[in-house]
This record gives sequence, structure tokens and C-alpha cells, in this order.
Amino acid sequence: MNTFKTKKDLQSYLGKQREDGLRIALIPTMGALHSGHLSLLDRATQIADIVVCSIFVNPTQFNDPKDLEKYPRPIENDLQLLKQAGCDVVFMPTVEEMYLQNEPAWNIDLGDLDSVWEGQKRPGHFQGVTQIVYKLFTLVKPDVACFGQKDFQQIMVIKRMIEIKDLPITVEICPTIRSKEGLALSSRNMRLSEQGKNKALALFRALSYIKTHFTTHPPAVLKENAADIITRETGLEIEYIAICESRNLKETQTIDFNVSHVAMLVVWIEGVRLIDNIILN
Ligand code: PAF
Repeated sequence: MNTFKTKKDLQSYLGKQREDGLRIALIPTMGALHSGHLSLLDRATQIADIVVCSIFVNPTQFNDPKDLEKYPRPIENDLQLLKQAGCDVVFMPTVEEMYLQNEPAWNIDLGDLDSVWEGQKRPGHFQGVTQIVYKLFTLVKPDVACFGQKDFQQIMVIKRMIEIKDLPITVEICPTIRSKEGLALSSRNMRLSEQGKNKALALFRALSYIKTHFTTHPPAVLKENAADIITRETGLEIEYIAICESRNLKETQTIDFNVSHVAMLVVWIEGVRLIDNIILN
């Protein structure tokens, strides 16, 4: 596994691989890797010759400087996991390597994608995400970039950025990894008690209910019944349940089955904010 800290070294290495006609996959991460990330790596090795994983805790996507400071950085463990999983290249730059001191302002028109759901909760977050992902894309020039479906809005935002910047990059959406009972894997689950984890299975039950009845029930009924499934468990507080067009994440009142839809939800349990989604068609 080759590890690079500078753009120059990374580019010079990848330039040679590209000359040899090798297909490059990029997995952008902020480190603190878990089995969800490793499943992206698994997929990337199937669809590309060279897998590049970046580890960079990106300051521009944090709203709260304390969250940035507290963000876990278990770098030795990450490197070991990546090596075991067959990663070819790790890029782990410093902040100074990625951002100029007088960095030009970044502002890309993501439309409503920027301001709904997670965007509303974290103003400016998706500008920061697209800013760093664009930098990584122009550096690595991957043929394909792998992202986990769990952060569905992030994927839609990145796809929009690719469209706007006209980049020749395919986005590979990798399925959310779940426990065998259905709880979506997340580093946040560690903060839940065993009872909390059991209660949290209601999220997947609610999403599965929506998927099963998607073609027969109107969205309002689906949402109401999904909310019932969740609130039947004590201590679960719904922040939102939404049934949206996948492309623009606009909430739908009546379904047009010719376009793809997604059900997304955020639920609080034991002070932990859990996010999950399911693609409906
Ligand atoms: O999903 C993440 O970990 C980050 O938002 C990403 C895509 C690596 C950009 O910093």
C-alpha cells in the first residue's frame, strides 16, 4: 500500500498508473473507518484496478469548530484496516496541503439540495463537502468514486456537482451495511445501550414498511404508519420522515412511478441522532 501526503507525490504516482490504462476508484473518507467503509473498498476493488482512499478531516464542512476538534483520528488503526482490505493508495494530506491561506470562496448552486433535510440542519455543510470532493476529484481524476447510500443526500449533492462541473466520473452507490436485524452501521451506534440498539430496529421496520406498501398507499398514509411503527417504541423521537424524489429530494405528495424515489428518516434515541433511508423504486 502506498501512502502519500502531498498532491505532487500522489499525482506523479497516479499519472503512471493512468498511462498504463488502469482504472482508478476513489473512496473519500474522513477516517475513523468501520465496516461500512470497508464495504466500499470491497466494491471498489471489484470495479477498478487501483483503489485510492483519502483520509482527510475536512474543516470546511463542520459548522461547529468543537465538532471538528473532537473528530476521532485513529490513523494507525485506519491504515491497518486499509492495508488488510487491499487498498492500493492512501492519500492523507494536511489542511495546508488542501487549502490555501487565502482560499477563494467556494459557492456552487446546489439548488434546494443545499437547504433541505440535512442541509437545513447544517447550513454550509454541503458547500464544504463539494469543495473538498471537487479538489479530490481533480487531483485523483478517478474513473469512479464510491459512496455509501447511508448518506443519500450527500450522494445527490455530489452527483449535482459532477453535473455542474461536467466531470467524467461515475458515482457508485454502495448499499448501507446493516446488522443482521437491520440496524444501519454507524459509529454513533456505539453510544447506544443494548436496549437502545434493539429499539432502533424500528427505523428499518418503518423503512421496510414504506417500501412494501409504496405502490399501493399514498405518501401521507405511508408516513403516518411508519411514524406509528417508530413511536410504538418508547423513547424514540422523530425529527423527520420524508418520501422524496431521489434526484432533487423534493417531498412528494403523489408518486410518479417513472422517477426514482427514496424514503429518508432521522430519529433521536438516547440522545443519539440516527439517520437512515431506503430506495423505493
Ligand atoms: O462522508 C464523508 O466522510 C465526507 O463528507 C467526505 C465525503 C469524505 C467529504 O469530506
